[in-house]
Amino acid sequence: MTITARTDVFAVFGHPVIHSKSPALHNFLLNRYQYNGVYLAFDVTDIQKAIESVATLGIKGVSITIPFKTSVIEYLDKIDPEAQAIGAVNTIVNQNGRLTGYNTDYTAAIEPLKKFGIQHKTVCILGAGGAAHAIAYGIHKEGGRLFIANRTSEKGAILAGKFNGESIDLSRAGDIRPDILINTTSVGMFPDIDVMPVSPECLKKGMVVMDIVYNPIQTLLLKTAGQSGCTTIDGLTMFILQGASQFSLWTGITPDISQVRHYFSDQDR
Ligand code: ATR
Repeated sequence: MTITARTDVFAVFGHPVIHSKSPALHNFLLNRYQYNGVYLAFDVTDIQKAIESVATLGIKGVSITIPFKTSVIEYLDKIDPEAQAIGAVNTIVNQNGRLTGYNTDYTAAIEPLKKFGIQHKTVCILGAGGAAHAIAYGIHKEGGRLFIANRTSEKGAILAGKFNGESIDLSRAGDIRPDILINTTSVGMFPDIDVMPVSPECLKKGMVVMDIVYNPIQTLLLKTAGQSGCTTIDGLTMFILQGASQFSLWTGITPDISQVRHYFSDQDR
């Protein structure tokens, strides 16, 4: 697509942002659907000024990543009720200068779990950061029995308290015999790829194990879970789904997820 005076601008704001795969994802989609737009990454330190520039420059849509998902809320005109309940925004839509914040992380994590059933299942979330908040909200909403296992137990207890869950020690994650185990910590992420957030004994045949780390796609946790007879869901799945929802909010187009998956799997080789 040739860049012209009519080209729409989309962006990601984060710090650091250099490793973000969002520009690759969104420029692939803009190109694939022949939408006259471009998506750029901005390493931002002052989120308030960056948000003011969205309306000033007419940037159509913004992805928000670490560490601004919570702090950005006060600078927006409107917050979608689900993003409000989660307490985090990862997507901004600019409609004629009016900025609305959404959270597409939670459906992206919950959607691939739905086919295994969530209601009445024991679900253990490892970690208590921004991603864990979005996922815990979704698990609670779907009627799962929520456990939060976090390194810092105070943070785990606060998150568990928000969504009617129970906080447990990280070392006890296996004891509760979860049906679904979700890693939201950065343990296993490049370059420290030889570590996993729980011991291999926690992983029992028949469990569903999901990792939100997508670099590498096959984390040690997922490799070990696969060898133990667990069903695994990789972080690329959530990453693509949250991005596809952002793209829909901005353009009105519902993209074909499988094409994006192929594109990223090819890139990873
Ligand atoms: P995000 O927004 O992606 O969830 P975050 O807010 O930085 O990122 O949260 C990261 C989570 O991973 C935190 O719960 C953190 O635990 P603490 O609350 O104890 O800091 C967890 N985490 C990060 N590194 C970890 C490690 N090496 N072992 C265990 N937990 C870790």
